[in-house]
Amino acid sequence: MRLLVTGGCGFIGSTFVRMALSRGHQVTNLDKLTYAGNPANVAEVADLPGYRFLHADIADAAAVANALEGVDVVVNMAAESHVDRSILDPATFPMTDVVGTAVILDQSRRAGVRRFVQVSTDEVYGSIPHGAFRETDPLEPSSPYSASKAGGDLQALAWHRTYGMDVVVTRGSNTYGPRQYPEKLIPLFVTNALDGEGLPVYGDGQQIRDWIHVEDHCAGIFAVLEHGAAGEVYNVGGANERTNLDITERILGLTGRDGALIHHVTDRPGHDRRYALATEKLSTLGWTARVEFATGLADTVEWYRANRAWWEPIKSGEYRAYYQAQYGDRGSAPRA
Ligand code: NAD
Ligand code: DAU
Repeated sequence: MRLLVTGGCGFIGSTFVRMALSRGHQVTNLDKLTYAGNPANVAEVADLPGYRFLHADIADAAAVANALEGVDVVVNMAAESHVDRSILDPATFPMTDVVGTAVILDQSRRAGVRRFVQVSTDEVYGSIPHGAFRETDPLEPSSPYSASKAGGDLQALAWHRTYGMDVVVTRGSNTYGPRQYPEKLIPLFVTNALDGEGLPVYGDGQQIRDWIHVEDHCAGIFAVLEHGAAGEVYNVGGANERTNLDITERILGLTGRDGALIHHVTDRPGHDRRYALATEKLSTLGWTARVEFATGLADTVEWYRANRAWWEPIKSGEYRAYYQAQYGDRGSAPRA
């Protein structure tokens, strides 16, 4: 297949691009190269004959139309992806996650692509105290990020209902692995711990996330791309619920640090307490999560330990201003 992957210089996108090429597909990677887009993430495939890169914005209709020539399937992963940045600067998120998604959906419709895969998130459901979200549950997003993603997700389904376009939506859970920008919980805490710096746990740290390895997430997206039914939504979760404090303690153990690095800081506004996904629907497509969490996390820590050249330049750039804005004046919170 000839795939157009957007956001392919990001964390999940670059893993997906490598997986697609290794499966014999041709890939055009369209990426705006925001602070989160890193050409180094795809450097090892940059010269392969089946790969081409286009530096463009998914909200730029002309650039997208040009990129779509000869494309069979679009996988739309491009997004502003970090909840905390959406709380600091909410107005930027709809520009890509809502407007950009509408633009690329519509250009894909006009170009007659065979299938459009919208990569959404479990955060569109909001928080769930017990049980697990099913694909038919209502969307109740809490943050500006998840509200924007819900907008993109619903538009994709609307393009199916209104225009009969072949659209599938994936709603993935918290993803971890190599090359994740060090603003998210796991890479932030791993890199801080490696440097002996504090780990800012929001509130009591008892919030729960369902963690999935990036290779499993990408394999889930592939299963939906290849076997999903048009107009359907598929949860992609790891069945691996962990509190944030559990994750923190594991990272301390893997980096040889102790609990003195933990700082309980003022909680995230609107913080969802728990995410959990029912994944039976995806299982019917033959998918199953394969990476065991203890192994996946240990390998991820080793990747960051071995690849300081990847993350040290990131942490010394624009990141410092972000880190100061996000954590500089944050008060402390009581322990659980
Ligand atoms: P990321 O922030 O690492 O990468 C996002 C990529 O999109 C970057 O390369 C960036 O340059 C690019 N981009 C941003 N705006 C763009 C625009 N307007 N046009 C073109 N490119 C643009 O994100 P990620 O964590 O890899 O997430 C990828 C997708 O998966 C997102 O849609 C996200 O909502 C979704 N998702 C992420 C997770 C997770 O835990 N990371 C879980 C579920 C779903
Ligand atoms: O659930 C899927 C979503 O997972 C994706 O759609 C998002 O793109 C991705 O960023 C992620 O969102 P979260 O907000 O769950 O991930 P984050 O890594 O930012 O935070 C995970 C948990 O850790 C959350 O409960 C907040 C907490 N946290 C995070 C940071 C950065 C802390 O306690 N301290 C921190 O410094």
